[in-house]
Amino acid sequence: MKMMIALAALLAGTAASAETVVITAARMLDVATGTMMEKPMIVAQDGRITSVGRQGSMPVTDARRIDLGDLTILPGLIDMHVHLTSDPTLSGMQSLRYPGSFWTVIGVAMARRTLDAGFTTVRNVGAGDYADIGLKMAIERGTIAGPRIVPATYAIGATGGHCDSNELPAEYILDRPGIADGPDAVRQKVRELHRRGAEVIKYCATGGVFSIGTSVGAQQYTQAEMNALVDEAHMLGLKVAAHAHGTSGIKAAIRAGVDTVEHVSFADAEAFDLAKKAGTWFSMDIYNDDYILAEGAKNGVPEESLAKEREVGLKQRQTFQAAWKAGVKMAFGSDAGVYPHGDNARQFAKMVEWGMTPIDAIRAATMKAAEALGREADVGQIAPGRYADIIAVAGDPTKDVATLRDVKAVVKGGVVVKDAR
Ligand code: ARG
Repeated sequence: MKMMIALAALLAGTAASAETVVITAARMLDVATGTMMEKPMIVAQDGRITSVGRQGSMPVTDARRIDLGDLTILPGLIDMHVHLTSDPTLSGMQSLRYPGSFWTVIGVAMARRTLDAGFTTVRNVGAGDYADIGLKMAIERGTIAGPRIVPATYAIGATGGHCDSNELPAEYILDRPGIADGPDAVRQKVRELHRRGAEVIKYCATGGVFSIGTSVGAQQYTQAEMNALVDEAHMLGLKVAAHAHGTSGIKAAIRAGVDTVEHVSFADAEAFDLAKKAGTWFSMDIYNDDYILAEGAKNGVPEESLAKEREVGLKQRQTFQAAWKAGVKMAFGSDAGVYPHGDNARQFAKMVEWGMTPIDAIRAATMKAAEALGREADVGQIAPGRYADIIAVAGDPTKDVATLRDVKAVVKGGVVVKDAR
């Protein structure tokens, strides 16, 4: 058997001395079929899963063992929409008192919190100072603990739009590296962010809740600008995420060919049809509203934004329900950073409240999110070839998604990074 493993390692192109890890638990949720497997055993080599079976079905000697006891294991969770370098308790004008270096440090702490909550992969859709690139590199080196990051760096946007900084009067000259106007400038911006390490392009297609002086419903790039942006990103092999609340901006983004639309509050039936035809994913942060309305004022969120939130919150949830019913593809995106990092999993219960079954909600944060990222080969399932990113909870999350708020153990790449049993 030892020889077989050595041979397999050689065939896989890895050193024969590659470390083998065997992970066991009481049961495993297979997210693809929605069924539970009793007494699973997962074998991983160099951080990637090589086989999945029943305990006792594959004799393995010479392996490091991770036994997750009487817990239920499932794939590490994926959040399509986070801002690791944001702190919701420092909102509005008070955030302007902190320099870029401060937000990078925040990112280090929040990466750990996110991982501990069972989110082993995140898409970071907007960070200052290209901080998500440094975070990703430090995590990959093992210098700090955190999830796998798909970084966007700066979110691209129009002058005065949701992705601009409009808090101060315009005579205060601010560095605004995400701003670009006109198709050519937008193309150049995509190239620049790609050069800086962006792996996804995020842009603002409409106004938003947290920006000053923007209307959530208003479109903020022309069709020509969006077309140029998406064309350039796709040419470079990058996916595109569009922030869009308003109806016309959502449709323009889908027509431009974006891969995911974020928020999607005022989408109508025509937008659902367009998305279904184009294969566009919706990533809807439907937990957010509860937190913003309860804590926003205390956190410094200006009344202007709270008023916009009251306009958007319920509508967005109704749109989520209608879009899911219409058959639009959905991936889990929380916008953590606007609400506390580590609480990402609170959104599962909202998704169930608004029309998904628990397994649908879990799929949205595992295999479906992996598909939306174009990373099915790496993450989103406990299956051969994927990273050994595995979380453990007590009980059955397909019966009660709230169990996902209490992740007992996290394994990332075959290494235990949290064990709170
Ligand atoms: N970042 C988003 C914005 O400012 C947050 C929206 C939060 N509200 C909501 N109901 N999801 O527009």
